[in-house]
Amino acid sequence: MSELKEIKDYSSKIKRVIITEEEIKEAIKKAGKEIDKIYDGRPILLVSILKGAFVFMADLCRAVSVPCEIGFMCAKSYYSGTVSTGVVKITMDLEKDIKDYHVVIVEDIIDTGRTLNDVVKMLKQRNPLSLRVVTLLDKPSRRLVDFEADMALFTIPDFFVIGYGLDCAELYRNLPYIAEYDSE
Ligand code: IMP
Ligand code: MG
Repeated sequence: MSELKEIKDYSSKIKRVIITEEEIKEAIKKAGKEIDKIYDGRPILLVSILKGAFVFMADLCRAVSVPCEIGFMCAKSYYSGTVSTGVVKITMDLEKDIKDYHVVIVEDIIDTGRTLNDVVKMLKQRNPLSLRVVTLLDKPSRRLVDFEADMALFTIPDFFVIGYGLDCAELYRNLPYIAEYDSE
């Protein structure tokens, strides 16, 4: 125990819950039904952008009924504290050729838009049958590039948020709700 470093103010940094577990559950149920309607029995490939979207992916894939495969990519947007530096790097790519797939990118949050703008450009060059983007959260007021998701479950103001997969310096991903982070 003594070797573990202590994390100061862990709980007090969780300022307030902005989206509850119940609200997330409801929204995902609805999104799953919408996806079923769009693809109408056609198989899809859900591509989750790690790490932030892993929790959303786990719940969303269980809310769809069309046949679905799962893939993961790791795109890292480099942060200095809670501010994005604009540097996006793909650190893990899909194993499969996507040309025979209807691809649905599953993202945690669109902030400046730079990460998904890069990822979508890259995946489109691989000629999938179709490509759509579903994001749990959208912060449109922060956009620096012209990018919109096809489906955004919640639109939020310019808060730095944590929980339900989203982190601050790798912590808080396991919170079952979305909370505002207290950066003071
Ligand atoms: P973008 O490239 O600026 O759109 O940033 C997208 C990525 O930055 C997301 O996939 C998140 O990993 C991270 N990010 C953006 N805003 C937040 C936030 O409020 N909390 C936690 N992570 C965030
Ligand atoms: Mg992310």
